[in-house]
Amino acid sequence: MSGGSERLCLLITGGAGFIGSNLVRRLVREGRHLIVNLDKLSYAGNLDSLVGIEVAPLYRFEHADVADGRAVARIMERYRPDALLNLAAETHVDRSIEGPQDFIQTNVVGTTILLDAVRAYLRGPRGVRANAALGDGGFRFLQVSTDEVFGALGPVGRFSAASPYRPNSPYAASKAAADHLARAFGRTFGLPAIVTNCTNNYGPHQFPEKLIPLAILKAENGRAIPVYGDGLQVRDWLHVDDHVDGLLAALFKGEPGETYVFGGEAERTNLEVVELICTIMDRCRPAGAPHRRLIEHVDDRPGHDRRYAMDIRTTVARLGWRPTARFEDGLEATVRWYLDNLAWCRRVQDGSYRGERLGLLA
Ligand SMILES: NC(=O)c1ccc[n+]([C@@H]2O[C@H](COP(=O)([O-])OP(=O)(O)OC[C@H]3O[C@@H](n4cnc5c(N)ncnc54)[C@H](O)[C@@H]3O)[C@@H](O)[C@H]2O)c1
Repeated sequence: MSGGSERLCLLITGGAGFIGSNLVRRLVREGRHLIVNLDKLSYAGNLDSLVGIEVAPLYRFEHADVADGRAVARIMERYRPDALLNLAAETHVDRSIEGPQDFIQTNVVGTTILLDAVRAYLRGPRGVRANAALGDGGFRFLQVSTDEVFGALGPVGRFSAASPYRPNSPYAASKAAADHLARAFGRTFGLPAIVTNCTNNYGPHQFPEKLIPLAILKAENGRAIPVYGDGLQVRDWLHVDDHVDGLLAALFKGEPGETYVFGGEAERTNLEVVELICTIMDRCRPAGAPHRRLIEHVDDRPGHDRRYAMDIRTTVARLGWRPTARFEDGLEATVRWYLDNLAWCRRVQDGSYRGERLGLLA
């Protein structure tokens, strides 16, 4: 699902990261729209995640920082996009505990610079093409965000688009600020912004510092698999392909000013996820079985949210989107992907990250 027959130009920030690369690959493979990928190539962004598509006629890469206003304006002027999908971000909670400022710079300042650049662009002679694919001939700014902005839940209840923002980590606070700015630019300047909040994603091409790829690689290497605290923190998992579907549905069917929430309806404790990875590893690598012996409980993350969950009923009704992957199947395919792509894992880590613990207070 990616719009009508008209060719659009979609500017995607953070397209060399986990979700961004899956989104870019999907759109470039479909070959209907010109895809411009604006990425700074931080430690988490890697062109190795886009191998094979760089030669596609409808793909362009722009190496730039979203917080560089001149570069962003130049790229907007050059491509005259029909939509901007903002996925560029600092995303690792543990790193936000070690150093919050990078998160403010990219997630808050960078998003504001993008919003301002779009505002200037829409005021200028951009020669709006009446494009039916995006409704009303208008531009769209899609602010891609997280369920973490809503804070933590107790054992019952779920977040929805109407939930108040109560971020608990510097990462979540920086994403919350960016979402508020997108909304404020909509209300104040009429900028056609849509915000999406999604639960934890899993799938191929995720930088191996996050729970699932980290656990797979630790198990593969026979190293201790760290589980924070008691491991009973609950997350709702959505396969990245389903998130990509949701983002495209929000882009092409969503209403400016609205928020859409995505989730996989697959709540699991972190311990359950790691134990399932171990079971899958036992099948894939029987010589190392049982991999559960590698699980090691370590100090909990400061301020660790206990539970996130999403009520997606309104999104399902409004966008006709719903998650399709069964968590157990998606996780098995994900484990196999990492085991088949160990060279990618080595290349993206590039000696700069070796699975060490981050984000503990001194
Ligand atoms: N991964 C998840 O589970 C999840 C869930 C919900 C929402 N999100 C949101 O989705 C978006 C993408 O997440 P992800 O997991 O793919 O992130 P990621 O960390 O894998 O990738 C982030 C990308 O942004 C780029 N980037 C970072 N700073 C930049 C800057 N200043 N200028 C330009 N590019 C920059 C990086 O190089 C990288 O390619 C983020 O906004 C995140 O908050 C992620």
